[in-house]
Amino acid sequence: GAVTACAPSEGAVAPSPAAAVAPASPGAGASRGTMGAPGIGDPDFPSDGNGGYDVQHYDLRLSYDPASRKLAGSATIEAKAVQDLTSFDLDLHGLAVSRVTVDGGAAGFTRNKDELVIEPGRRISNGDRFAVAVDYSGVPEPMRDSANLGKYGFISTPDGAFVTCEPNGAKTWFPSNDHPSDKATYDFQITVPEGLTAIANGEMTGTPQTKAGKTTFVWREKHPMASYLATMTTGKFQVRTGTSDKGLPIYAAVADSFHGSLDQLFTETGKITDYWSTVFGPYPFSSTGGVIDDYAAGYALENQTKPIYGGFSPEPTIIAHELAHQWFGDSLSIGRWRDLWLNEGFATYAEWLWAEHAGQYTADSAFRRYYANAADPMWNYPPGTARASDLFGSAVYNRGAMTLHALRREIGDDKFFPLIREWTNAHRYGTVTTQEFIALAERVSGKNLKELFDAWLFQPRRPAPIT
Ligand code: ARG
Ligand code: ZN
Repeated sequence: GAVTACAPSEGAVAPSPAAAVAPASPGAGASRGTMGAPGIGDPDFPSDGNGGYDVQHYDLRLSYDPASRKLAGSATIEAKAVQDLTSFDLDLHGLAVSRVTVDGGAAGFTRNKDELVIEPGRRISNGDRFAVAVDYSGVPEPMRDSANLGKYGFISTPDGAFVTCEPNGAKTWFPSNDHPSDKATYDFQITVPEGLTAIANGEMTGTPQTKAGKTTFVWREKHPMASYLATMTTGKFQVRTGTSDKGLPIYAAVADSFHGSLDQLFTETGKITDYWSTVFGPYPFSSTGGVIDDYAAGYALENQTKPIYGGFSPEPTIIAHELAHQWFGDSLSIGRWRDLWLNEGFATYAEWLWAEHAGQYTADSAFRRYYANAADPMWNYPPGTARASDLFGSAVYNRGAMTLHALRREIGDDKFFPLIREWTNAHRYGTVTTQEFIALAERVSGKNLKELFDAWLFQPRRPAPIT
């Protein structure tokens, strides 16, 4: 029988059936059709995520000791079956699993590379809700993947951990359906040695409790979140909390060596979040924030509610980029990685909009500066199809941003900005595709924009100049 891959949420991209292949199971016969697929169906990342179920909620209880680098975790995952399941997978990279239960009953499990294959003791039928609990421990190993991804996932530091998981590093610290097309809410309970701070997404739901030299921090992200945006960044941090002018709670934290940047991070984060809410529509989450760790990653990541900056004090344009991602990437998520321009093109365009707002340079001048360089390799890289081997290529960022500027010039500001607000409103907390954006742009503007989008997103050459 056909294997149905996970249909994560309304509006999600239909997973490619070709990728939804059940793991080889000689002689499984009738049961073969009810094994959850080892991948969710992303054509470029075939083993990322899993088929057969849709996660609703992660409850993560974690304890981390920077001295031994040992993580001990107990993860409870509430999910809904989207097919009958005799077995299903979670993604988990390394770490030793000691026990798995499904709805409280012992379950069988095996490991196959980064797949944790679970055989529930009971029958799970299409539509059932079930809870799978996994106890595990070990020294997390970050991903050190292909081309331009560098090191990501759970990265230990001398005093804690720097945790940035895009695109598929959540599996380095918790068993997950590690793909942005299956979003869920999260509870975190993180225990670290006394004196350290544990930072996760959303808001703290109580005062940290210290007992026997250890402090436990409790965080909750009550809005749906993609697994790559989850964090448990820990270490020695200085923290400032308060609210923005519009009354949104702000949580800013910096490693000791960045103490001089705490107030600026706090202030700019509040100011920029408030400004974006006038440009992009209402802020989608319950708090904003930022974290500067002293791990020199050289990049930032838009962790939900708390972008993280790896070893540098960010310019306001970078804060503007990461906060724009709260709308583009975090609230509206992509269903497959090749659509990444919907995150990075929009966030890069937001840098230009912020620079213009702050009186530094105009979006138009940024566009023209890039356009002028006919030899830029980005003209050979159509950003509408981000490549797995070069996911974060400059075309995805800069040519993606140029696409939005070309669109803005074509339809005018009086259509462009309402379009953006309609986009974030119609798909809030959902999963989006490029085709949906093109369709909405045509509807809002009343224009046929197929050629414009084709030239900017899908052709391996520099488009004709804009007027
Ligand atoms: N989304 C991030 C940003 O542009 C980039 C993440 C890079 N990821 C990586 N594994 N190097 O803000
Ligand atoms: Zn970005």
